[in-house]
Order: sequence, then C-alpha cells, then structure tokens
Amino acid sequence: MGKVNSKSIRSLSNPSSPTSPTLKRTKRPRQKSNASSTTSQESSASSVDGTTQCPSPSSSQESLFAQFRSTDFDIYQYIGSRKFCKGDSDDINYIYPVDEDEIDRVQMQHFMYKHIWNGNFSSPVEDLLLKEETTVLDIGCGSGAWLLEMATEYQNPKFTGIDIAPLYPSEIKPNNVKFQQANVLTGLPFEDNTFDFVYIRFMIFAFSVNDWERAIQEAVRVTKPGGWIEIMEKDIYWHNEGPFCKAARTAVADALRESKNMEIIVSPLLSKLLSSVPNLSQVNHDDRNVPFGEWAGKLGGIYKDLYTWGAKNLKKFMSSIGFIEDEWDDTVDVCIKHLVERKGFDKIHRFWAMKNE
Ligand SMILES: C[S@@+](CC[C@H](N)C(=O)[O-])C[C@H]1O[C@@H](n2cnc3c(N)ncnc32)[C@H](O)[C@@H]1O
Repeated sequence: MGKVNSKSIRSLSNPSSPTSPTLKRTKRPRQKSNASSTTSQESSASSVDGTTQCPSPSSSQESLFAQFRSTDFDIYQYIGSRKFCKGDSDDINYIYPVDEDEIDRVQMQHFMYKHIWNGNFSSPVEDLLLKEETTVLDIGCGSGAWLLEMATEYQNPKFTGIDIAPLYPSEIKPNNVKFQQANVLTGLPFEDNTFDFVYIRFMIFAFSVNDWERAIQEAVRVTKPGGWIEIMEKDIYWHNEGPFCKAARTAVADALRESKNMEIIVSPLLSKLLSSVPNLSQVNHDDRNVPFGEWAGKLGGIYKDLYTWGAKNLKKFMSSIGFIEDEWDDTVDVCIKHLVERKGFDKIHRFWAMKNE
C-alpha cells in the first residue's frame, strides 16, 4: 500500500500508485459479530473467550502519541498484530485499530481535511476563541491533532480532549490542553453547560445509529447555552463509482447495518438528528467534494492513498463480519483503481448548531 507521510501531506506531493489487483469475491455476512471476534487464523495466545489479551507494549510499539498508563491495558485486545478496543459491551463499538499505525493515519487525515476546508472549524466561534474564559471539548479526540493545533493557534481558551483510548500525548502538550480518558456513550464526566464549543469528528466507525443519538445528547448537555456544537464526518458513498465499487460499498454498508446498526452514509442521519434536538437551533450544513486520484492533482493523490490505508485498516473487523480476510486488500485496491479511472469522489460534511440561550 502506498502510504502517505507528513512530508507528502505538507507539500501535497504526488505519492506512487498501488499496483493493479485481481478482483476477488466478497462473502456476505452471516451473523452479528464485532471487532472483538478472533478469527481461526489468530495466534495460539488466545484466551478462553477467544480473544487475545493485551500484553505490555514494548517501547518500539509505542510512540509519542501513545504513552499508555498500566491501568488502561484492560480496555485493549490484540487481534493478530493489531491493537483494538475490546468491543464487549454496548458502550464500546469502535471497529478501527487503536495502535500506532492508525494514529499516524488520523494525524495525516487531519492535515488533509484542514487543507480541504481551509481551516479547522466552520462554527462562528472565532470571537469566542479569543477569550480566556472560553472552554472547548473534543469528543473522541484520538491523537489530539485537532485540539493541539487549535490550542496552539488560540492560546486563551481552555481545551479538553476525551477519548475512550488514551492515544493522546500525556506529557508534551500546550499548557491550555487537558486530556481525559472517557467514554461518551456512558456519559461525559462534566457538568451540564460546561463548554462553549464542542467538537466531534470521524466517529462513524465508533457509533451505531442509537449511539449517535446518545452522543449528540451528551454533547448538547455539556454545551453552554449560546455555545456551539460541530460534527465533521464523511459519507462512505462514492460518486462516479461504477458497478464493482457499488457492489462492494453496498455489501459493506449492509454488513455494518446488519451486524452493528452502523450507518456509513451518515450525513442524512446527522442532519435529521441535529434538527430534531429541541434545544439546538441554527443547524448549518456544508460539504466538500474530495477526489480520488492524481487526475485531481496532489490532493487527489494523497486522498487516494489515505483512503486505501484507512480501508485496509478495517480488514480485521471486516473478516469478523463475513468478508474473506485474505481478499480484503485486493477488494480495496480494485475499488480505488476503479474510482481513480472514473474520476470518483466522495463528500466530507460539516454540521454546526447553536444550543439555545
Ligand atoms: C477515527 S478516530 C478520530 C479521532 C479524532 N476525532 C480525529 O478526527 O482525528 C475515532 C476515535 O474515537 C475514539 N472513540 C471510539 N469510541 C469512543 C467512545 N465511545 N467514547 C470516546 N471516544 C471513542 C477512538 O478511540 C478513536 O480515537
């Protein structure tokens, strides 16, 4: 897989293309499952419940953005060489790995989307961000890329990031940033009306349809009257996709609906949910097209590689819901190849709304 790096992101240079794959068949999912399932190919280190328990990480496995505390280890499990959150309750549904490779991917993704939007937010909070009393919360902050950049740019407010997995830096960070391990689905550890600006980004593979409702309710609860909530998500829906891509995308969407009640064409759901919250007003929506491939210049080349990377990082989960693990990477490569040939693109969405005074 041709991965992008921070240099290519910064310069929006042209990464190399993946090789052409052979088209393989995907198997339809059979039953409800989740990322905690361990496949028959998994190592002999599996415990009695079939999951591989998380060993202490070696220093080479950890990066600046993964300074884990020993008490955190029991939320993780290894599946093959990848680290995941244990998806063993209704309150943890995250299907992506939570390891160094994935942290690198979301970091890169952050810089690309900032470039696409020409900024880190769309809410009208520019004036708020100049004030010392302003407080900002990032729910599911991941590596903290958004928060760390915001805190560096706006040095007066206080920024808080929460994540179920402490992937954020614990020591090297600006003074106006605090991170806390918390699960938004079991309730945020904050009083009502605490924050002026609450931000949520890239949680489609963490929330079921019902979870979105719970998370938005929690976000609204902790937002001050007159404060703003912003959500940024992409739809897994490809324009100019062609028959192979449509079949693959539909199979994945159906499997996720069936197994986890996850909706990956999420923008209509977000629009509906935000509009139905009684104490939210001024619900705004904007989107940008994001092209796959060098035909659209450096950005298209970078997006093609980042998308390929992200899709391949779903391989373990996809095998747990009925896709053939050994064929997943080829399926991704064929989809991307077709999308590039057809000048395909998808859309990134931003929603923002004010909590009523
Ligand atoms: C795709 S990453 C996005 C990270 C960050 N928002 C960004 O845009 O770079 C999703 C993050 O959500 C976190 N997460 C998943 N479920 C969560 C939950 N229930 N509560 C809090 N964080 C959660 C994961 O650990 C992961 O760091």
